[in-house]
Amino acid sequence: MRGSARVAQDTERTAPDTAAKDGRAAGSYDFLVVANRLPVDRAGDSPDDGWKRSPGGLVTALAPIMEKSDGAWIGWVGSPDEEIEPFEHDGMALVPVGLSASEVELYYEGFSNATLWPLYHDVIAPPEFHRTWWDAYRRINERFALAVLSRAADHATVWVQDYQLQLVPAILRARRPDLRIGFFNHIPFPPPEIFSQLPWRRQVLEGLLGADLVGFQRPNDALNFARAARRYGGAGGKGTNLLVGRGERAVHAEAFPISIDTDRISQLARHPEIQERARQIRHDLGDPKTIMLGVDRLDYTKGIRHRLKAFEELLVDERVKVGEVTLVQVASPSRERVEQYRLLREEVEGTVGRINGAFDTLQHTAVRYLHHNYPVEEMVALYLAADVMLVTALRDGMNLVAKEYVAARYDGSGALVLSEFTGAADQLKQALLINPHDIAGLKEAMVAAINLPPGAASRRMKAMRRQIIVHNVEEWSAAFLNRLSEVTHG
Ligand code: G6P
Repeated sequence: MRGSARVAQDTERTAPDTAAKDGRAAGSYDFLVVANRLPVDRAGDSPDDGWKRSPGGLVTALAPIMEKSDGAWIGWVGSPDEEIEPFEHDGMALVPVGLSASEVELYYEGFSNATLWPLYHDVIAPPEFHRTWWDAYRRINERFALAVLSRAADHATVWVQDYQLQLVPAILRARRPDLRIGFFNHIPFPPPEIFSQLPWRRQVLEGLLGADLVGFQRPNDALNFARAARRYGGAGGKGTNLLVGRGERAVHAEAFPISIDTDRISQLARHPEIQERARQIRHDLGDPKTIMLGVDRLDYTKGIRHRLKAFEELLVDERVKVGEVTLVQVASPSRERVEQYRLLREEVEGTVGRINGAFDTLQHTAVRYLHHNYPVEEMVALYLAADVMLVTALRDGMNLVAKEYVAARYDGSGALVLSEFTGAADQLKQALLINPHDIAGLKEAMVAAINLPPGAASRRMKAMRRQIIVHNVEEWSAAFLNRLSEVTHG
């Protein structure tokens, strides 16, 4: 499957000699994934501890394809000032892109996560626009693109992932028109009325329009993008079939809702040790009648404050009682140097402290708050222990936690309270759907979930399980890549 070798033409950090150090001739990969992060984390504190595969669906979906099609994954290792040579892990060729501390601040914390992230999530937090951040974003996108250019075989397929790398498709297109270029946006794409606030809206749209196929989570995201591309990006065409460059080239915008490795989660949930761990968790919490669970990155898009407010009011109203109901909130640390995330953490932790101060007894807690990352086995044990799962995001591209909960409930028990502002709500239609801004409605749904009769709960859960068993992450990546090859073969 190897394409013809190509002489590396780029400079900067991915000079030809670097490209050759992975033991391969430069320009020989037929399939490249480009994402802000590599699919591995350090296995310990010291660099000698090696690497372990990151949790998450994307790598599960793509690892087999990478092996079969002679692929490489290009991404950042997640910490500043590290110059790491390309290496292999789990049969995958990994190509690290280095970022200095100041680049992390400007490109990752700044433009990606304090400009684009809030702008694309309904301006829940105010986006900041700084020219220095934009300059860094452009520069770093160029760096990722250069790492591709020196490694892609003739007519290779390149799949660019997410909002951190929106300029990469056009950079690739300009220098390597032979490539087949796909882009997938994992987060929402806002309506043009919001997107248009971005001072660099034209450049971002032109960047994305470098792709042959631009994938989104929901049909509405694809439509938002297409409208913005026509209004501000110089594109023509109809609906989500766009035309660029004097009408010569087609760009397709379509929805491909991402999913999870359903089998793996279901299998873990059937594991006796994990089931024992779930019983232990219930016991450690004082065997309450009902455990409610929230699992989120500590992010203001997730509606954690709304969830806590609703729960606190239920306690005040005495519709739920400590000892009978416990809320477990796992909030995994995220983007901790970004101001809005710091403020959120203070607020959430203050609220949890206040609720527990008022309602805890010596034996029981109202909210068990855990600011940690857990391995997948522990997450599945938590899903099994939880009678009610709360997903109250104010805006979320997909929300894979909702799907994981459903995958873990193989016996059909459990209740899912799910925000209608998540991509997952399109697929998990039998959840108790809520508008998280409507606190009264959220409270009613929480009480309904606690009291859901087993028969009704099981009918809902089984219908949702059928959906994610068919539409798993493997199906997602296959659907995207098949469509990419279809649209590029004319
Ligand atoms: C979202 C984004 C991903 C991102 C992840 C974790 O799911 O779509 O691109 O990797 O959040 O955020 P982080 O900033 O830690 O990579």
